[in-house]
Amino acid sequence: MQKVKVALIGAGLRGQNYTNFALEHPEEMQLVAVADPNRDRVEMLKQRHGIDETMCFTDWRDLLARPKLADAVLICTQDKMHFEPTMAALDAGYHVLLEKPMSPDPQECVVMGAKAERAGLIFSICHVLRYTNFFGTIKRLLEEGAIGRLMSIQHNENVGYWHQAHSFVRGNWSNTAASSPMILGKSCHDMDILLWLAGADCARISSFGTLSHFTADNAPAGAPKRCTDGCPAADTCLYYAPDVYLTEQAGWMALAISDDPSREARLKALEEGPYGRCVYHCSNDVVDHQVVNMLFDNEVTAAFTMSAFTQECSRTIKLMGTRGEIRGAMEKNEIELIRFGGSEPERIALEAAGGHVGHGGGDYGLMRDFLKLVQDGGQQESLTSAAKSVQSHLMAFAAEESRMAGRVVDMREFAASFSGS
Ligand SMILES: NC(=O)c1ccc[n+]([C@@H]2O[C@H](COP(=O)([O-])OP(=O)(O)OC[C@H]3O[C@@H](n4cnc5c(N)ncnc54)[C@H](O)[C@@H]3O)[C@@H](O)[C@H]2O)c1
Repeated sequence: MQKVKVALIGAGLRGQNYTNFALEHPEEMQLVAVADPNRDRVEMLKQRHGIDETMCFTDWRDLLARPKLADAVLICTQDKMHFEPTMAALDAGYHVLLEKPMSPDPQECVVMGAKAERAGLIFSICHVLRYTNFFGTIKRLLEEGAIGRLMSIQHNENVGYWHQAHSFVRGNWSNTAASSPMILGKSCHDMDILLWLAGADCARISSFGTLSHFTADNAPAGAPKRCTDGCPAADTCLYYAPDVYLTEQAGWMALAISDDPSREARLKALEEGPYGRCVYHCSNDVVDHQVVNMLFDNEVTAAFTMSAFTQECSRTIKLMGTRGEIRGAMEKNEIELIRFGGSEPERIALEAAGGHVGHGGGDYGLMRDFLKLVQDGGQQESLTSAAKSVQSHLMAFAAEESRMAGRVVDMREFAASFSGS
């Protein structure tokens, strides 16, 4: 297997996570260049991967202005900074692996998808769930006809109250104008997995949802704007920032607030940065609960619920067919297959892989698939090609349109309102 040379644009949490693959599998992937205005992050990757200083850049434009220096580019900048570097990287002849969401603008998603097709390059989107053992097994069971003809899907995204507070109230994806609506920022993964499992195009979609809890009305009496300013509810509030971020073990949430994991640096981040803000006094506007109903061309119906108000941060699903049911809990890595008229339910225990940060093994599965496609010279289509991802992104945009306008959206009419040129 020939090693694939990769350049990274955006050395944040996701970029670091994907490029760790090169450290564990140096025979498959080499990180040869990095661009990020955050010098600490660049320095860290430079040291870890032995990158030459001449291949370290402060901006993606500088990296892409150089003659082609790698086989592929990973684009892991924030949501609103996906379109320009992707278009430039495709122009420069790189294969591209782009983080989801492709863009918060549906028109840009369609344009990017069309461009990759014309360029004949591999352009994959990080819909990591398709690469998990969990969803891969469910898809295989459906294809084998284990439950007959699929009729309905009930799918829950249990965001987790703590994860909602971190990412969608205090953090990067809390404000629609600054990033994306929740259904895109968080749940485009779910739209994508439902499209894949349903096995047909989505025909119609409707949605309801609101931001109901993380609002000023629900703040404890006397709560200041920052937890560290002497909050009277410190002992009882689930979201008291020092309890969340100043624990002994600096997990992924603590690392997100400060590159320096020391307690002092994290405390400073709480006193000055977004993660020390009271969750009831933030600039958030994304919903904290939402439902989406879908009808697919093959008459499969799906009901999706996203809720912040869960303990676990994972997905649960039930698929109902003419000859049986599949029930799955991703966190437990468990799938139950029930065949109507049969004997005991069959329990399929999957190998534990990856956890929350690695998306149940999906992150590395995606990376391995992408590298293989690059090695094969783009002969095959990715499981998460941009062409496929455009459709599931449009489902998310249509759900948001339905939620805001209070109407059922016809997917074909909706898609026809955007052009790829
Ligand atoms: N696939 C998934 O399941 C998944 C999970 C979480 C986040 N995401 C997505 O991944 C993306 C990145 O998320 P993250 O948590 O790593 O964010 P992050 O903020 O930690 O990282 C983004 C990085 O981009 C850098 N950057 C800013 N301007 C730049 C420029 N001009 N040139 C190069 N780099 C620049 C920033 O300095 C930062 O280091 C987002 O789009 C997010 O929605 C995907």
